[in-house]
Amino acid sequence: MNPRLFDKAAGYLPDFCFERPPDLGIMLGSGWGDALLTDEVLLRLPYSEIPGLGASTVKGHAGEFILYTRGGKRIAAWCGRRHYYEGVGWEPVMLPVEILRRMSCGTLLLTNASGGINPALRPGDFVIIRDHINLTGFSPFIGEHVAEWGERFPDMTEVYTKRLAELLHASANRLGLRVMDGVYAYSVGPCYETPAEIRAYKAQGADVVGMSTVPEAVFAKSCGMKVAGLSLVTNLAAGISLRPLAHEEVVAAGESAKGLMRGFMDDFISRL
Ligand code: HPA
Repeated sequence: MNPRLFDKAAGYLPDFCFERPPDLGIMLGSGWGDALLTDEVLLRLPYSEIPGLGASTVKGHAGEFILYTRGGKRIAAWCGRRHYYEGVGWEPVMLPVEILRRMSCGTLLLTNASGGINPALRPGDFVIIRDHINLTGFSPFIGEHVAEWGERFPDMTEVYTKRLAELLHASANRLGLRVMDGVYAYSVGPCYETPAEIRAYKAQGADVVGMSTVPEAVFAKSCGMKVAGLSLVTNLAAGISLRPLAHEEVVAAGESAKGLMRGFMDDFISRL
């Protein structure tokens, strides 16, 4: 990735977007599309208009950038993500985080849908991501070193900031949500995993599995942002589930959890 590739996108956003750093950046994953409660919407832009980003090709991803206020905080939200498996390279996947970096945003909440591997998990549970395993062998950093993006060999000891995880727990406790800490395994997709893969990931220490989040998390961490990760378990992982996996199930689980997601995000935002 070349940082100059993002200049057009940054130039397309109105100047006022960069005049005050957002208190929080949000990336909404599959099923999280309706999770935002807004006071004043300052800007709404479809992804298809943003140079280098393009509309998401995945159902359940709205594809809209929203800059808004909530409870006096300024929030920059990317509603829907591009994934590496869409075959568009890393740029559209990383562009939202790069724009947040250029806005001097210091805190990023990444959300996603995942399959539950840990036997304690049920569909509808939330997992606060405390660490991850990159099963793909890919990294957005492969290539030329760009000094603005951090070290050549960025430290990944605490990708997901402990303090933010504690705030998520406080919100979940207050709202009585089923939540646990977990390790997220990033499988590139778009195939769901095989039962043998899930057994292997379980042995490696994964609690949930999904096809996103890790590239954005490592990028944001390397750039110095504080990162929080929140996953909605939409299904039991392959071989644990008694039926074949289907994206419709993922989207439907998001739809049923809509009210809980909204409350969770809103309480978290109020604690920042
Ligand atoms: N595997 C991978 N990605 C997912 C899953 C899953 O079981 N559920 C939602 N996203």
